[in-house]
Order: sequence, then C-alpha cells, then structure tokens
Amino acid sequence: MYPLRRNRRLRTSDAVRHLVRETILTPSDFLVPLFVVEGKGVHEEIPSMPDYYRLSLDNLEKEVKELWNMGLCAVLLFVKVPDDLKDNKGSEALNANGLMQLAIKTVKNACPDMLVMTDVALDPYSSYGHDGIVENGRILNDESAEILAEMSVSHANAGADFVAPSDMMDGRILTIREALEDEGHNDTGIMAYSAKYASAFYGPFRDALDSAPVDLKNVPKDKKSYQMDSANRREALKETQMDIDEGADIVMIKPGLCYLDIVREIRDAVEVPVAVYQVSGEYAMLKAAAEKGWLDHDAVMMEQLISIKRAGANIIASYFAKDAVKLMG
Ligand code: PBG
Repeated sequence: MYPLRRNRRLRTSDAVRHLVRETILTPSDFLVPLFVVEGKGVHEEIPSMPDYYRLSLDNLEKEVKELWNMGLCAVLLFVKVPDDLKDNKGSEALNANGLMQLAIKTVKNACPDMLVMTDVALDPYSSYGHDGIVENGRILNDESAEILAEMSVSHANAGADFVAPSDMMDGRILTIREALEDEGHNDTGIMAYSAKYASAFYGPFRDALDSAPVDLKNVPKDKKSYQMDSANRREALKETQMDIDEGADIVMIKPGLCYLDIVREIRDAVEVPVAVYQVSGEYAMLKAAAEKGWLDHDAVMMEQLISIKRAGANIIASYFAKDAVKLMG
C-alpha cells in the first residue's frame, strides 16, 4: 500500500516548485508611497519607520529616478505640511504652488512616464489632524467632499495621473469625478480607498506626516466616525460597490494583512483592479522584530507580500517595494 497521491512530488526541488508556483511577484505589482517635505537636501529617517525617509524635492527627484531604473513605475505621494500652513479647511491643499503640486511636477519632470498618484485627504493640512472639516465635535461630510474635489482638480492640473482619496467621506468619489470632468480632466483616474478601516496600524504614518488627530476639546479623538469598524465585512462590500458606482477606477483595501479575507471577497465580487495598502504599522512591526533578531526580515517580507497578492491584490502599496524588488534580482 502507498498513498494514492503524493503531493510532495511537486515540492522536491527548486525547479519543480518554480514550475508549479501559483503566485509570482513582479516590480509592476507595486505602488511606492513617498513622503515629501519642504526644504533642500532633506533625507530624514522616520523614527517609527526604520529605513524609510522624508524627502525634499531634490531628493524626491533622485529617488524616483532610482525607482524607475528598478522597474518601479508608480508612486503614491504624501506631503508633510508645516504647522503654520495648517487650518481647519486645509486651505493650503489648494495652493497651486503648494508642496504636493510641486512634488507632482518634480516627479513628472524627472520621469515623465512614472505613474503619479496623489493622496487626497485633509489630514496633513488640517490643524485638527482630521480628514474633514471639524465643527462642534463632528466631521462635516459634504463640505469636506467639496474641498477634496477641488484638491483633486488641483492635483490633476499639476499633472497627477490618479487621485487617491483616503478620507472615507460619503459620496466623495462622485463629487471628485464630476469636478474632474467639469475641468476637462476626463483621463485622470480615481483610486478610491474604499474599505479603509479605523486602524491602529496607521500610527507610524501619522508620525511621518505629523498628522494625528490633536487632543483638544470638541475635536474627535479618533477617526471612527468615518473610517470603518474592523469588525465589519459586509460593510466593506457595500462601501466598495458604492465607490465603483460613483466612478472609482481602482478600489483599495487598507490595512493589508489583517484584512486579507476582505481582499479575497472584494476581488471575487467586483471587476475593477483591487489595490491593497500594507500600512506603516505593518512595516514597523516587521522592522522591529527583525532588529531584535526575532524574525528573518527578508523571508517574512516576501511571505507577506506574496500572501497579499495571493489573496487577490492586483496592486500593492508597500514601503517594502524597493527591498522586495532588490530580492527579486
Ligand atoms: C490619511 C491617511 C492615513 C494613511 C494613508 N492616508 C492615515 C490615517 O487615516 O490616519 C495611512 C497609511 C499608513 O499607515 O501607512 N488620509
């Protein structure tokens, strides 16, 4: 007697494992998040994100050229805004010569074919650290969506290929789509953060941009009135379907690892490309464990990225993009 089927035959050598591998990562899977700051010659490490840096425009230029040469062809831009430019309505976000607008132009000048996606949200510009206007302890929805639409048009004017609203206001995709069409930006795409959970994994990102909600009376302490409850699954499908109906070209799920069940479900339910954001806290956890010698950095990184793709991600936004591509050889 012998086992009727020996599955281990397909695992006997590297060659056969390669041959039957179901999921393969390539550089074109990645979207590289970049943090931009004012100044010159700035290349400062983010304390809670080891080996990840805030860059001034001159260094941004160098970075995107390096990414391009590695086969990384899409970036997602975020800006760190000085406190004195912040207000409740994020007015600075609409400055045609603001940091984001200059960053878009810098990338396009350095690498004309690089796909430029931009973060559209008020929090980096908000004196209260929220993704919408704060009034009497609440976040205003429709008024915030209007500003996001103006921001999107401003980014498109500067040359952005896609805007990526990360705010979770209701109806903002339609408001943005209409504003872009009205201004003739019919080719500018929208990557909607559709299922964005109110996650504690965003901590290091808020350090990077100094964008955490401030501790003041009448300012909500967290983002739970707009970002989703991590206990909810059906709601993610509803949010995603609504964003698609309103005109989203790509939908995103965020964070990554804890939400791979949602990724699979959405991949199976919709037709548009699905992006997953492996967020700052996921990055920080692995860096910290690796620093202590408790985990093998590269092996765990690749296992996580492959798992995200296997779950159904067509696009992975990850701070590990460069490290992963280097390992791909
Ligand atoms: C805010 C925004 C956040 C992230 C991307 N856009 C943080 C938040 O919602 O507070 C998090 C990304 C990360 O943690 O890597 N609009």
